[in-house]
Amino acid sequence: MTAGRSLYQALSDYAAGDFYPYHMPGHKRNPAGGEMADYHKIDITEIDGFDNLHQAEGILKEAQLRANRLYGADETFFLVNGSTGGVLAAIMAAAQPFDEILLARNCHKSVYHAAILHGLIVRYCWPKMISEYDIFDGVSAEEIGNLLDTYPGVKAVVITSPTYEGVLSDIPGIAAAVHERGKILIVDEAHGSHFGLSSHMPQGAIAGGADLIIHSLHKTLPAMTQTALLHVNGDRVDRGKLRGYLSMLQSSSPSYVLMASMDACMKFLEEQGQERFAAMRGHYESFCEKTASLEHIHIGKMTKVSQKRYELKGWDLGKMVISVKGTNMTGKELGDVLRETYHLEMEMTAETYVLAIMTLMDEAAGWQRLADALCEIDDRIEESADEGSFASGKRAAYLNRPLKSRMTPARAFQSEWETIPMQEAAGRTAAGFINLYPPGSPIVAPGEMLDEAVMKQIEEYRRTGLHIQGVSEDGQIVVVAL
Ligand SMILES: Cc1ncc(COP(=O)(O)O)c(C=O)c1O
Repeated sequence: MTAGRSLYQALSDYAAGDFYPYHMPGHKRNPAGGEMADYHKIDITEIDGFDNLHQAEGILKEAQLRANRLYGADETFFLVNGSTGGVLAAIMAAAQPFDEILLARNCHKSVYHAAILHGLIVRYCWPKMISEYDIFDGVSAEEIGNLLDTYPGVKAVVITSPTYEGVLSDIPGIAAAVHERGKILIVDEAHGSHFGLSSHMPQGAIAGGADLIIHSLHKTLPAMTQTALLHVNGDRVDRGKLRGYLSMLQSSSPSYVLMASMDACMKFLEEQGQERFAAMRGHYESFCEKTASLEHIHIGKMTKVSQKRYELKGWDLGKMVISVKGTNMTGKELGDVLRETYHLEMEMTAETYVLAIMTLMDEAAGWQRLADALCEIDDRIEESADEGSFASGKRAAYLNRPLKSRMTPARAFQSEWETIPMQEAAGRTAAGFINLYPPGSPIVAPGEMLDEAVMKQIEEYRRTGLHIQGVSEDGQIVVVAL
């Protein structure tokens, strides 16, 4: 980036180029999602006639009701600092300070942040890996039921479905297991705000029976970054308390630009949603036909993995896990070629795959550019001769290997910290998070014991240029002081 250029200028220059976004936000810079006026003109505060999000009685109440009608939950709240605010408020309303909660270990960091802020005791459910793609599988209802029997003090269960890579869990089964035992189910459906809105999309967690459901509108729908929704079903959660936490955790000056964007998105879905979702299904099917002859690149969808071996109950068609596992190319290299040669920017690059996000705002040309590039690249790839190569994905094994938990995340985070080189960390207790970003689910959470294997894995990621949060540039991490 040229020194001295303002952020606005840099963004405008980038927008004028030919890079195609296979990443969030879901509007894909496509004005068909409803262009809004110059943002200065609609950026106001709580003046007469424009209501107040924290006690909505007028136009903002109407807008939230519009969203509510579309999704069919009992109540829906606008969120202006993303799903993060909704996850924090949901967990804090569902469990009292120092209570016990059960989390799928692949949850987003905001779930852990809630556990820290509320001093919660955390029990984990470790999803398996789908070894063909080195990604997390869904969570099983049976395992959740068993864990709740082992930890009867748990107040609430938090799972992520779909995962960042689009893998769905059995929400109705999990809801039944949780409710039978008198607990609360929170589903972080941040990546599934398009679910349940069309017969072409999977049924979502609202219809699946979850108590609290969080949606990032900005991830997969045409709405501005930071826009999200929190939905409530039933009366297991005290709504007054929930509103109270939403007020504490969100800005007292929620942006009217963002709220207008959410409402515009709801109107767009009401008016054009069905047609757009049907078109998306059509684009997806032609993309599958065009890429059916790929020899080395595999695109992760249900047909490629055995449902018998795994818990997954479906795979969001908007998430394309484009795998080069077992070839002489790494995910990072694939992402680089797509960016540098084809000007296609992916959502994420991992060891053995790249992730492309497709939404109802991608037109045929977007699908076509990706299919064409993959067909060309596939011709240049070879199978790997090196069994132990990085691209073989063998080293992703850490992901479902439980680390020993020595204290609650809150106690570790709030203890005295010491900063040490990561090479000296084995045997110590993590005080902070170490995340592979995106998606931002922790490799290490505060309170966990660091061991040689996990530290080696993190070093390997750093060497191959993947983004690691929680390790400083010179390789230092924070641990609980002795
Ligand atoms: C599964 C999951 N939950 C929650 C969040 C937080 O969402 P937001 O960025 O809207 O705050 C993310 C963000 O990437 C996520 O991947």
